[in-house]
This record gives sequence, structure tokens and C-alpha cells, in this order.
Amino acid sequence: MRKKIVAGNWKMNNDLAQTETLITELKAQNGAADVEVMIAPSFTNLWQAFNALKGSSIEVIAQNMHFAESGAYTGEVSAAMLKSVGIKTVILGHSERRAYFNESDAILAKKVDAALANELQIIFCFGEELADRKSGNQEAIVANQIRNALFHLNAAAFKNIVLAYEPVWAIGTGETATAEQAQDMHAFIRKTIANTYGAEVADSISILYGGSCKPSNAKEIFAKPDVDGGLIGGAALNASDFFAIVNAF
Ligand code: 13P
Repeated sequence: MRKKIVAGNWKMNNDLAQTETLITELKAQNGAADVEVMIAPSFTNLWQAFNALKGSSIEVIAQNMHFAESGAYTGEVSAAMLKSVGIKTVILGHSERRAYFNESDAILAKKVDAALANELQIIFCFGEELADRKSGNQEAIVANQIRNALFHLNAAAFKNIVLAYEPVWAIGTGETATAEQAQDMHAFIRKTIANTYGAEVADSISILYGGSCKPSNAKEIFAKPDVDGGLIGGAALNASDFFAIVNAF
């Protein structure tokens, strides 16, 4: 059975007080027992969030990390630092990191290695831009993003990897991929994994959809056989919307 996951990526939102308020509201919500719920606050609020959610089933995860163990990388945060505040999962490869912070496939491959070496689970993001979709190149783009950052790994490493397909044209735009577009791409991703690592690895990896996912469309998207949950941006900043998505399975 693949894990069902709904993860909220808070991006650069919520200061300490807002983080505490939203966590209090999230704790008052009830999610289905078979769905893993995660939230990714800013680095500055991870420790507070981790403590506030002790004993809760909501996992606190990180939005990013550096590939180096330590050293002269001003402004960066290492895997060991994340672990030291209780973090077990990190998002890597988000399109905003790729677009605004020049994270290439080569850099992401190094981050993937560093996260796995530190026994962190990875939510690995990728997705095509609008021009790629318009020219019909979306599958080639996605296959390359996955191959370049992940296909140096052995099959066992995939136990610690969750994939998140986030078409760039659907992020924060209000425009969601249709459930059919999500299913077609997720099936393609699973086939790409199967071709290299075999059916067992492909059938056990969770593939999340992200991009303007909200209570009104989550049910239809999550009903698709290759969609195992969502990576949620804007709608994760409101506790009842977020849990409406969690409960959309
Ligand atoms: P939105 O849900 O705001 O479109 O953001 C999706 C996303 O980027 C999650 O990582």
C-alpha cells in the first residue's frame, strides 16, 4: 500500500506568532487516520512548530536544505541542523527554488544525496513550465528532471523518496491541472520509475500533485489511481481548507 500524504508548504509565510496560531487551529481539526499530514513552516519556526506538535500526528517538515554538511555557506541550513530540531522530511527541488535560486538538477542531485546520507525522507518536486506544456514537451521535461536528480540512486533509496509533480503553470495561479492531466502525468512518472527500477519500486512510491489544489478540486484529483496526495501552497495557510483537502480522499 502506498502512503497517502497531504503536505502543506507554507513558503515564506507566517512569523512566529502566526505559526503558533495556525498550529493551534490545525490541532483542532480531524484528519483521516490513513493520511499522513505534514506542514513545512519557515526555518525560523521549525523548532517551535516541532514542539507545538509533539504528540500530534502532524509532522513538521522543512522546505529546503543545503547539500554541504557544514561550513562557509552564509545563510544556509544543513541536513544535520534540521535533524537536530526533530525534522525527518525535507522538500527539495521546488520550482521556486529552481527558478529564483538557480537550483539546477546537478545541485539537486547533491542535495538528494546529502538528505539520504542524513536519513531524511525527501519530497522531491519537479514539473514543466507553461511553454513546455503548450509545445507538448511536458513528459520529456519531467522525465529529465527525475532522471538527472534521482537516477544515480539505488532502488533501496526510493523507500525514502516521495515525488511531487507540480506543473509550474498551476502553482499559485488558480489554474489547476485537470484530474485527467494529473493522472496522465502521474502514470507516466510511475512508468518512468518502473522502466529503470522495476514495478515494485514504482508501485510503492507515493506521487503527490501540487498546484492550486483546494477543497473544491482535491476530491476529483485524489480519486485518480496514481495520485497519492497533494503538496499544498496557498490553501495550507487556512486550517479548515487544509483539512478539507486532507479529508478529500
Ligand atoms: P499553490 O497551492 O499555492 O498553487 O502552491 C503549490 C505549491 O507550490 C506547493 O509546493
